[in-house]
Amino acid sequence: MPEAIAYISRDTDGVLWKKALEAALGPIDFRTLDNLGDKAGIEVVLAWKPPAGLIASFPNVKLIVSLGMGVDHLLADDKLPEGVPIVRIMDDGLVGQMSEYALYWALRHHRDIDKYAASQRAKQWKVEDFVDTLHRRIGILGLGTIGQDTAKKFAALGFPTAGWSRTKKSLPGIETFHGPDGLARVLAQSDILVNVLPLTRDTKGLLDAKLFAALPRGAYLINMARGGHVVDEALLAALDSGHLSGAALDVFNQEPLPQEHRYWTHPKVQVTPHVAGATNPRTASPGVIENIRNVRAGKPLINTVDPKSGY
Ligand code: GLV
Repeated sequence: MPEAIAYISRDTDGVLWKKALEAALGPIDFRTLDNLGDKAGIEVVLAWKPPAGLIASFPNVKLIVSLGMGVDHLLADDKLPEGVPIVRIMDDGLVGQMSEYALYWALRHHRDIDKYAASQRAKQWKVEDFVDTLHRRIGILGLGTIGQDTAKKFAALGFPTAGWSRTKKSLPGIETFHGPDGLARVLAQSDILVNVLPLTRDTKGLLDAKLFAALPRGAYLINMARGGHVVDEALLAALDSGHLSGAALDVFNQEPLPQEHRYWTHPKVQVTPHVAGATNPRTASPGVIENIRNVRAGKPLINTVDPKSGY
């Protein structure tokens, strides 16, 4: 009977995952990339950016778990074994961190903290024009679990908040839009635009010159979704022309961000190294444990991924 769990990630060693799973499921034959052993014994895969084709070489795998809430890193492997269910983590801890990230940069921009920091360095007592919270409009692209949590928190602070999603959604206190017409409308009213879309065929490169031009002059961008959403040259041009006032970027087309990339030194860009939300086994493991139990008992899974829609 295959019952090993393979942890496929180069970012961390998986020790915390092993502990969290064993606390609920008992001793586990836990394999890692450097120690896969007999592949026929692998029943469940936990994966973050797996090498293409690797999972297909496990003949008895019954469940693939994405260690990220985003699954583009998994679906990029076009040889995933057909018919094997894919689930993703749902992690309240990660969701909370993501909305904190958006709130932090939005408030810092809203309250002109960078301008005051520059004034301080110049020993200047200079008061900036103040924009009322009621007049700083927030737009959120993507209304999945993270987008909804982020939208709710902005609205709770009194910011007029709108959100856009592929399919129609309604959320109390949030103005919601969907589809292509809805996108134009949300952009036109986004003084701060927060991107939390999944990266799919449809959303790749969505943040292009046309999209930036549709934002109000002086808009600020927070991208905590995927670098692949952004056409970098278009973003740099929009920042350089002054159409956008700044951008906080956590994710990049190439990670780590190459040394020579202009984002590193651009005065209007804040770079963080894909840390807006970290998967934490303490908060993410209960759903994974439930799914391992479900797959073993032949019961329906939770947090399933539809490879066709890409999330
Ligand atoms: C992180 O980027 C994730 O997808 O959870």
